[in-house]
Amino acid sequence: RPGAAPGLPRVAPLLSSVPATPRSVPARVRGSLPRWLRGSLLRVGPGKFEFGEDRYNHWFDGMALLHQFRIENGSVTYRSKFLQSDTYKANSAQNRIVISEFGTLALPDPCKNIFERFMSKFEMTAMTDNTNVNYVRYKGDYYMSTETNLMNKVDIETLERTEKVDWSKFIAVNGATAHPHYDPDGTAYNMGNSYGSQGSCYNVIRVPPEKVDLGETIHGAQVICSIAPTERMKPSYYHSFGMTKNYIIFIEQPLKINLWKIITSKIRGKAFSDGISWEPQYNTRFHVVDKRTGQLLPGMYYSKPFISFHQINAFEDQGCIVIDLCCQDDGRVIDAYQLQNLRKAGEELDQVYRSVARSFPRRFVLPLDVTVNTPEGETLSPLSYSSASAVKQADGKIWCTHENLHGEDLEEQGGIEFPQINYGQFSGKKYRVFYGCGFRHLVGDSLIKVDVVNKTLKVWREDGFYPSEPVFVPVPGTNAEDGGVILSVVVTANQKDSNFLLVLDARTFEELGRAEVPVPMPYGFHGTFVPM
Ligand SMILES: *[C@@H]1O[C@H](CO)[C@@H](O)[C@H](O)[C@H]1NC(C)=O
Ligand SMILES: *[C@@H]1O[C@H](CO)[C@@H](O)[C@H](O)[C@H]1NC(C)=O
Ligand SMILES: [Fe+2]
Repeated sequence: RPGAAPGLPRVAPLLSSVPATPRSVPARVRGSLPRWLRGSLLRVGPGKFEFGEDRYNHWFDGMALLHQFRIENGSVTYRSKFLQSDTYKANSAQNRIVISEFGTLALPDPCKNIFERFMSKFEMTAMTDNTNVNYVRYKGDYYMSTETNLMNKVDIETLERTEKVDWSKFIAVNGATAHPHYDPDGTAYNMGNSYGSQGSCYNVIRVPPEKVDLGETIHGAQVICSIAPTERMKPSYYHSFGMTKNYIIFIEQPLKINLWKIITSKIRGKAFSDGISWEPQYNTRFHVVDKRTGQLLPGMYYSKPFISFHQINAFEDQGCIVIDLCCQDDGRVIDAYQLQNLRKAGEELDQVYRSVARSFPRRFVLPLDVTVNTPEGETLSPLSYSSASAVKQADGKIWCTHENLHGEDLEEQGGIEFPQINYGQFSGKKYRVFYGCGFRHLVGDSLIKVDVVNKTLKVWREDGFYPSEPVFVPVPGTNAEDGGVILSVVVTANQKDSNFLLVLDARTFEELGRAEVPVPMPYGFHGTFVPM
């Protein structure tokens, strides 16, 4: 079985609580870091998994720990702080889990009497502001984001929270993804669901780039398009979406949010995660929205069921949209990432790993100009460089079949996730290269550079070390797509070894240097580089 590494070493130490390191500590640099590399790598992920006797159930539930690696003159300093969210403060003050998270239902206060405890089952669940997924940028400011209606604005120098922002106070949405897209002028696009008496909608959101006249935070945000789900009470879960110069591409995948289950979860004593289910009797559907007019295009694009957490890139070519995604054929992945599973060992841990479908990069081609006169039964893609097809059926739907953007060698790496590109120069454009983490384990265990044109790989790996999402930083004054470095935070469960910030030459994928930090760090989610 390709990609299955028997006898996986335990990763439990990488998914355990650590203390924060609020005062900068110097890193020990080996090799040499380029002099032009000046700025901060900011990362976030869960760093605290219990309060008092209460424990979180799911990896996604842990309290947001903010990491900052400052790089200047070839040296590196590190610090970290727990995000001072309302959730973190309330849990700390009461030394128990007060606010429910994705996989953990907060229990009623044991100090309340029986009647009060009974009644609290009927109160609305307070939404968490434990924004532990990503740093996002609106109007030049940084916010910590998860997928709820709440974001926390942070000072990226001090890592202190400065403001809590609620999407639903500005526009009719109940949340937004932690993976917005940005136009070159700073206009941000995102997507979020709204839940109302009519059921739910998927909404495309635009946030203007300027504060002048439009106000601070996300004033001026607009819903530019609302898309009705196939089933109003069972909208799809999505973690990101695609964007080209002119279009937003939304993927409605058969990972469903059962709103009845969510509404009744507290009474039934279940967490939100209980309301999400993989329903492969539905196909995956693509929706395309014109960014300028907010119009939903009439094309009904379908493919066999898959799920995608992270999109790689998308662009327009010869009347088509080309969209590249990391895809899994089975959506039963969320349960595997329960902490009790991740903390297993030996054969039991191997079983968890085998239960998760590997993630592979795939290309879909969506022809834009589809009318009643479009012929049926033949591929509508004119693209000579892609074997992806799109065929109109008798019912008018366009059936899309993907092209694999990889060879067998990627199967040996356990597939790829956490894709990143040279976003500044190549987002929404025809491109050649992306980077990601190989997954021969339940967390990333290698860094991989994929050439999507000739489908070749370059791999960095060291046994016992787990690299995070690779962040590309361009060298000033070059147009080469891979002219720059890759930054990744590499963590280990070995007591005698240090975690480190790794710097690779993005072109050759050779190590330039590493900055060892003698501080425990858990495996995290996402990050960004802010130049100085
Ligand atoms: C880096 O070098 C510049 C110029 O030599 C100097 O002004 C600056 O203080 C140095 N910064 C650090 C953190 O050493
Ligand atoms: C694939 O393309 C890259 C350029 O991105 C080149 O360096 C490499 O040699 C090519 N490999 C093959 C096998 O064609
Ligand atoms: Fe993500």
